Amino acid sequence: MDSTPCLRPKTLVAFSILALSVALLPASAQSDQVPWMNPSLSPDERATMVVKEMTIDEKVSLLHGTGMKDLSPISPLARDSNGGAGYVVGIPRLGIPAIQMSDAAYGVRSSGENGRYSTALPSNLGAAASWDLDAGYEYGALIGRELRAQGYNMSLGGGVNLAREPRNGRTFEYMGEDPILAGRMIGSVIRGTQAQHVIGDIKHYALNDQESGRNAVNVHIDKRSMRESDLLAFEVGIREGHPAAVMCSYNRVNGDYACENRYLLTDVLKKDWNFKGFVLSDWQGTHSAAKASAAGLDHEEPGEIFFGGTMKEAVQSGRVPMAEVDEHVHRILRSMFACGVIDDPPQKSVVDVVGGFEVSRNIAEHSIVLLSNKNSQLPLDASKLHSIAVIGAHADVGMISGAGSAQVDPPGGNAIMPPGKGGTKWQDHIWFPTSPLKTIRAKTPAAKVQFDPGTDSSSAAALAKSADVAIVFSYQWESEEMDLDSLSLPEHQDDLIAAVAAANPHPIVVLETGSSVTMPWAGQVSGILEAWYAGSQGAEAVANVIFGDVNPSAKLPITFPRSEADLPHRGIVKPPHESTTHGEPDAWKKIAPGLPAFQTAYDEGLKVGYKWYDAEKKEVLFPFGYGLSYSTYSYSGFRVTPVGPPGGNVRLNFTVTNTSNRAGVEIAEVYAALPAAAAEPPKRLVGWSRVKLNPAESKEVVVEIDPRYLSIFNADRNTWQLLPGDYTFLVGGSSRNLPLKESVSLK
Ligand code: BGC
Repeated sequence: MDSTPCLRPKTLVAFSILALSVALLPASAQSDQVPWMNPSLSPDERATMVVKEMTIDEKVSLLHGTGMKDLSPISPLARDSNGGAGYVVGIPRLGIPAIQMSDAAYGVRSSGENGRYSTALPSNLGAAASWDLDAGYEYGALIGRELRAQGYNMSLGGGVNLAREPRNGRTFEYMGEDPILAGRMIGSVIRGTQAQHVIGDIKHYALNDQESGRNAVNVHIDKRSMRESDLLAFEVGIREGHPAAVMCSYNRVNGDYACENRYLLTDVLKKDWNFKGFVLSDWQGTHSAAKASAAGLDHEEPGEIFFGGTMKEAVQSGRVPMAEVDEHVHRILRSMFACGVIDDPPQKSVVDVVGGFEVSRNIAEHSIVLLSNKNSQLPLDASKLHSIAVIGAHADVGMISGAGSAQVDPPGGNAIMPPGKGGTKWQDHIWFPTSPLKTIRAKTPAAKVQFDPGTDSSSAAALAKSADVAIVFSYQWESEEMDLDSLSLPEHQDDLIAAVAAANPHPIVVLETGSSVTMPWAGQVSGILEAWYAGSQGAEAVANVIFGDVNPSAKLPITFPRSEADLPHRGIVKPPHESTTHGEPDAWKKIAPGLPAFQTAYDEGLKVGYKWYDAEKKEVLFPFGYGLSYSTYSYSGFRVTPVGPPGGNVRLNFTVTNTSNRAGVEIAEVYAALPAAAAEPPKRLVGWSRVKLNPAESKEVVVEIDPRYLSIFNADRNTWQLLPGDYTFLVGGSSRNLPLKESVSLK
């Protein structure tokens, strides 16, 4: 696989850009002594030329950031930072600009404290529920545009850790439990971002599937399982998105820290996947100079505990070869050239607020999953409603968002705080000012729409009793640096929903969650919508779905289990006291050399998400790939044809019909059951198609299956293998509703 990061069409590079770049150079460099400013040369040629000119100090200056409060000492050079999480000084003598990095999971971070504005998109998990690669691209493109407008040239987004453990507190930042869906979606996001001439990133490599004790935990997993699950999500994301940067994670994997893990960084990433970009450590994920450098780490963030003066000494004393440093530097420079941040540096400008709203709402509408709709209760007919009770989750003023380094600041501050507080605090519950109460009122001008905060179940039930319809908003808040204690809705919301359901015959629940949740009340309500963390325009999107302006099409990227007892593990292994640093001053001093390890074993191996429930024959609440629409669809006419010589694509033809009188989009999912000799879980997702259908329309759908998605990883031979034998393809509207089935023998 050639993972050339950030390749751009040559046409983007105009001569005027060359002129501009050279104009930024000091006079001494504005001559033919700077041939690397010629954009018709390849990024590698240009990087090679620059490296030859550099002093050792200049080289080392590119290998680290300039520090961050609580995580490392801060260098005086940090004064020129743009206010993002990372800042790498430039080399003006050679025309190399600084790297200004910002977190950008579902929008650009820290806009509040920097006096700027950012759009909040739906959470990454929400975007994954769209199964829409174009929406993924738009998601990434918006982030890229807003990064540039705010003066950044590198994104720290791109989270794609697999939802192996749904209680992981960062599940909202990732793309769900299937490596192919997650990898393809994140690949699209990265392509969108990098097309704006911003360095893109994919993270956290790898197996950072729990936040508890993340700087100490040692994850045990066999090679085949990791290559076919967690690492496959990265492999696909890198192959399709060409990110210029990979962020290695905090945790240990099979003994070594991820950021000094030769197997992960060199053997797999740089050799097997031929990754040409650079590897940067998560913030304080670097634990050594020589070992990490030799293993394949190119850059330390946020400071220079190991990759600054210590690295220089290591080079001078011969412990780290200069050639190794040159390679790190080359990878960083070639990424800067390839992504266009040297030829087309960002210019600060005003963020397009209205355009951002449009993109965010559109993606939210593609992301909301209709989980239950008894007696076609939804969409609501506004003209027939006299009274509506809106209950819970601050739905009068806002909708919840995900916290940690992903946090986007709402304009004007948290919707439930006094106005005028722009910045957000670490691990605050932040409500975006997008009010479901207002959007519902706007849709139903003739109805009496009343709000109850839901803090007292009997008062909420009394309001619900008096209304035609009761809509309960419920939330599950998540953040980096903590995991969920359970998959139950917090704050007695299960009791609230049950009380409302007992009082009103038409209760509808709108979930704002970062992961799956259990729903003991699921059988008692008429409608359930999963809105995830819905972003800046969440309330508009939810109202458009509830009242039928939008026909829902999204499908779950993560299984909703019936109970936590059905998960592979009883709970997340908690770190012993000595493996944590909570609240300690200068904790970095303890973290830098490495905290004592504690162990987590992912012994469910290949059985991640639906593969677990299938293999263990467990019923679920809502399966992976499930989602209703206001339309209904049927499947027919299935043909499976291997194309070309053995080992080529497999072509599937089938027909999807809209059996309703409403236009809609059906996500047709394709799964494969491998030959018994493969010893795989019962089936895996291998492809899908989003089929747009008018009322009563039928369309023939063609899905080509890449043979790599049918292969297994042979750990002994370190290679993917397509086993000969019978492959059964299954097609339908969810992982547990697959009406089409056809087997084919592959050689
Ligand atoms: C997070 C990263 C983030 C970095 C910089 C770390 O705590 O794990 O995802 O990019 O901080 O803010």
